[in-house]
Formats: sequence, C-alpha cells, structure tokens
Amino acid sequence: MTNAYDELILVLDFGAQYGQLIARRIREANVYCEVLPHNTPLAEIMARQPRGIVLSGGPASVSAPGAPDCDPGLFAAGIPVLGICYGMQLMAHRLGGDVAQGQQREYGKVVVRVDDDQDLFYGLGRETPGWMSHGDLIRRPPPGFKILAHTENTPVAAMGDSTKRLYGVQFHPEVTHTSQGKQVLANFLYRICGCGGNWTTGSFIERAVAHIRAQCGEARVLCALSGGVDSSVAAALAHRAVGDRLTCIFVDHGLLRKGEAQQVIQTFRDHKGINLVHVQAEERFLARLAGVTDPEEKRKRIGHEFIRVFEEEAAQLGDVPFLVQGTVYPDVIESGSKTAAVIKSHHNVGGLPQDMGFTLVEPLRALFKDEVRQVGLELGLPEEIVYRQPFPGPGLAIRIIGAVNRERLEILREVDAIVLEEIKQAGLYHQLWQSFAILPTMRSVGVMGDDRTYAYPAVLRAVTSLDGMTADWARLPYDVLERISNRVVNEVPEVNRLVYDVTSKPPGTIEWE
Ligand code: XMP
Repeated sequence: MTNAYDELILVLDFGAQYGQLIARRIREANVYCEVLPHNTPLAEIMARQPRGIVLSGGPASVSAPGAPDCDPGLFAAGIPVLGICYGMQLMAHRLGGDVAQGQQREYGKVVVRVDDDQDLFYGLGRETPGWMSHGDLIRRPPPGFKILAHTENTPVAAMGDSTKRLYGVQFHPEVTHTSQGKQVLANFLYRICGCGGNWTTGSFIERAVAHIRAQCGEARVLCALSGGVDSSVAAALAHRAVGDRLTCIFVDHGLLRKGEAQQVIQTFRDHKGINLVHVQAEERFLARLAGVTDPEEKRKRIGHEFIRVFEEEAAQLGDVPFLVQGTVYPDVIESGSKTAAVIKSHHNVGGLPQDMGFTLVEPLRALFKDEVRQVGLELGLPEEIVYRQPFPGPGLAIRIIGAVNRERLEILREVDAIVLEEIKQAGLYHQLWQSFAILPTMRSVGVMGDDRTYAYPAVLRAVTSLDGMTADWARLPYDVLERISNRVVNEVPEVNRLVYDVTSKPPGTIEWE
C-alpha cells in the first residue's frame, strides 16, 4: 500500500482570502495537503517531510512594518516552494528582488503571457487567463530567477529558479476564474515536487481504518450519532474499522424533522447492522424546555440535557474508553483563532465536553466537507444522509419562537416536511445551504372558504452559503413559493399564512434563535 501521507504539501497561510481554497485544489489534484500558520518554524515544517510548500496570498505589503513573514531558512531548505501573490512578493523581497509598493493595482481577470513553458507553465500555451488581486508588484526578480510570464501591467507575473525549485505567481491559480490554474498547480505538484498523486478517497479510507484499529486496539468504541453527515460518516468509518466493538448512541431529543429519526435508525441499525442505541428522550427534553422562551436558555438546557442523557447511556454500556467524533478540517483550522462575540451558544453532538474521560477518535479531522461526502458515498451511506443540509443540534426548538411543546412541534414538523418536499421536487435542495420553516408566536386573521381564521403564520427560510458564516437569502422561483404557500395553508390547519424571510446574514442569522 502506498502511504497517502508520504506526499505532503504544506500551505503557509499569510492571511489569504483563498487559503483554504489552495488546499482544496491541491487535494483535488490527489495530493494530501495541510494549512499551517505562516510563521511555523522551519524545524516543525521539516519534521513533516513535505514534498513542497505553497506560500499563500495575503493582504499585507512585504515592506510594511510587521508584515507577516516566514522562517528565513525556508528558501534554502531544498524543498520546492511556490509563492502565490503575497507569497511570491515575500520570496522576491527575501531573496534580493525588487518589490514596488502599490504602484499599479490590478484586480480581476487579466491575460497572462507565458514567456517560459518549461515547467510551471508546461502545456499552457502562450496566453492564459489569470485572476489578479494585488497592489504591490515585482519590478525585478531575485538573482538566479527567470521571468516566466508577464501581463500588460505586471512585468513579473511569474518567476522561477528551476535549480533551487523556487517559483512564484502573481495571479491566483486556485480560483476558478484562472481557468488553467489547476494545470499550474498540477505542474508544481507533479513536475516540480515529484508527487505521484495518491491521495484518493479510497486511500484515505484504507489509511483511516488502519489508524482507528491501531488507536483503539481491542477496546470498545462509542459514537454520538446525530444523523448529520459528519457524525454519520465518522460512524461508518469507525464501524468498518472495529465492527461490533462500535456502539452508536443516537439521542432522539424529539426535536428532529419529520421522519428523521426513523431514517437514521434504518440506515445504521437495519441496513448497516451497526449497534445502535436509540434513546427516546423526547419527554425529558420537553420537560426541560417547558415554558422556556429565551433562545439562549433553550440552547443551554438542550445542551446540558444532551450531555446528561449521553453520560447515562455510556455508563450503562460499561467500559468504553474511546469516543468517535465527526470533527472536520475547517473546525480544526478555525478553532482557537476565534475571538468573536457569542451570538449563539452552539450545541453540537460532537461538542461533548472534553472531561468526560474518553479518548477522542477523530477520523475526519483532515477532511473538507466535500471530501467527507465522498468518503460517505464510498462507504455506502445513502445520498440522503451524505447530502443532507446542515441541521442545528438543538433542532426544531430554535425554529419555534417562544415555548416549545408537542403541539407546536407537530405543526412545525408538518410545515417543514412540505417545504422540504417541494424544494426537493423543484430540484433545488442541493443548491441551497438550508431550506426550512420557522413557527412564530403571533397569529393573524385570514379567510378560508367562508370562514374567518385566526392562526399562525409560518416563515419560510432558504439561504445559499459556502460555510454558514455568511449567507444570502435564496431567490426561489415564484411558482415554488406559491406551491409551498398553497400546500402549507391547505394542509396544516393551524397555519393560515406563509411569509418568506428575505434577510441575508449578516445582518440576520440563518436560524431565528
Ligand atoms: P446561524 O443561525 O448562527 O447558523 O446563522 C449558522 C449555521 O449553524 C447552524 N447552527 C447550529 N449547528 N448546533 C449546530 O450544530 C447549533 O447549536 C447550531 N446553531 C446554528 C445553522 O443551522 C446554520 O447552518
């Protein structure tokens, strides 16, 4: 077996808008890649034995005081380096080139004229579109470097020293507007770093399974399963590794969408034969939520109750030292760097407290979401789980404004099921980050047949987003809105009006609580 991690590329992040994107593109080229802070010491970098290093772009100017730097030994370490935008300017600055500040700003798509197509630009032709976003530019490359490409306003759009295997590009090969960017990155990976491209979903699974087996030995393993894509894929992977020694605990807090609990049970217990403890805890959660209207209080109570239920169930199982969690790579990159105000206290199934005494098993720590999905498909999980829209840990409780009770849950579940059905029917489900319904507390007057109604409105929320951090309200076609509205008002007697939330995030949030 070839070792997928034998070929590691490290991206040093200088505060790039597209830092993660570079890593994703490299992975798409079947080479394993990780993002590290720009000032990672050389010894740490060398200990990882990377095949190559990519310096990302960044907003700073290399000659500005306090500009982000890398370990000075990096360019003499004998490892191929590709600097992108700021990364290239830093390389030029450090190695004796001439970087001019803010002389000719260049943004957007430009024609890159290739002067040398020996290695980095191999197979690209004489002209290729490149996406630029820079204020500084290189007037003269460092000694030993050749100019590999230029544009109308940028004399050094790319440079390289093929003996030292140091390269730089002023444009962004990672963005899709740079249509041959993939080829540029592939040339760097394959022709310059000598990678073979063995990072595939299959090799990942093989490797992850072996790793879980080595980590857990003969011990038993627990997994908190929510039915969301991350915990589902983590569970399926752990099951492949340890089989019957895995037990999944699915805490059904009674705040799930219509039919969701059954689907999780069917997929894991009935279909995959995984040991699944289905804890029906609706009563407990509803008792804890009775009369609670404050959103943060709801979230806290649900989070605490979840931990309590989980602890009780785990205690019943006896000695289980390992806990599988569906932590994914963006969580790893982002954790620790956040100092933002608490807008909402998130409750995640994966967010069990660290002091529960388990050793964590996190097989997806290195993966981006689309890679997690690929792994899920390859492990035989149904598309309905693999491509499921995100669903918050506190479930429908934070989509019911005011007090949560069984009756209101039932109303929302019915409305929500119609929304999902129609969104799927219209072929929009996968294009939307989320699409769901909210139930407010107020009521309004309507007329149905010859009768006056006085009932709840339902709010429709559908957003597009890349990561949930920002979002835009979705421009749903009018006929889809009409169908949802007609069905909701006709089929759910407690609802007599449908309104559409046309607020993006910010200033709104995606969920209403
Ligand atoms: P907001 O409402 O903050 O939500 O714009 C951003 C994304 O996070 C999801 N969300 C949660 N996910 N536990 C979760 O696992 C939570 O407590 C939680 N609260 C919000 C939300 O659905 C959206 O995708």
